[in-house]
Amino acid sequence: PPWRASVLTLFPEMFPGPLGLSLVGQALKAGLWSLSLHQIREFGIGRHRAVDDTPAGGGAGMVMRADVLAQAIDNARAADPGLPLLYMSPRGEPLTQARARRLAEGPGAMILAGRFEGIDERVIAGREILEVSIGDYVLSGGELAAMVVLDACVRLLPGVLGAEESLAQESFEDGLLEYPQYTKPREWEGRPTPEVLLSGDHAKIAKWRREEALRVTREKRPDLLEGRDKRR
Ligand code: ADE
Repeated sequence: PPWRASVLTLFPEMFPGPLGLSLVGQALKAGLWSLSLHQIREFGIGRHRAVDDTPAGGGAGMVMRADVLAQAIDNARAADPGLPLLYMSPRGEPLTQARARRLAEGPGAMILAGRFEGIDERVIAGREILEVSIGDYVLSGGELAAMVVLDACVRLLPGVLGAEESLAQESFEDGLLEYPQYTKPREWEGRPTPEVLLSGDHAKIAKWRREEALRVTREKRPDLLEGRDKRR
């Protein structure tokens, strides 16, 4: 059965967007994963289908209503049962390769993409929801973040990556950054391709790449070397 993505959003027209192209889009067309979209506004209040209101206690901006969201979530869960529900938010658990792998190994993901200043806190308490962040910055809505989560998951599904690409993935799969890559021409603007890569000695090349992956990681992201086992 295909891996199921289900997204609750006020902007379903943003999807599939980039997820309809390239590797992940091919996989969608091939039926390796499915995408179901739920328009939150269908559960809006009154003639104007209001989904948000002013924050209790005052202050700037608008907050998504608990009752509207609960209806939207319950409706989506009835249509797409058995999926973990993620709410995209900068205060969430960081998205990691390990989390993407765990999600990809499950039946799929239901993702709530918020807008405005956020959602009524009672929804998070009253429904089983995991808050997930894609980084320490603020987006104008959860949709782009949802796409990031889905891209990271879908490329891990069986049959999505070709043999060539899956080999290339091994490096980050062990918690290290990628080793440097080179292609033609052999010398460019006075910079040669490292001799070892032209040697044809596969053991030597593998060793060089492991050492380079370590060096690059130590240089650019020493933090990755500390909790390495956690990321496996
Ligand atoms: N929504 C807005 N900003 C976000 C972020 N950094 N991560 C996840 N969802 C978000």
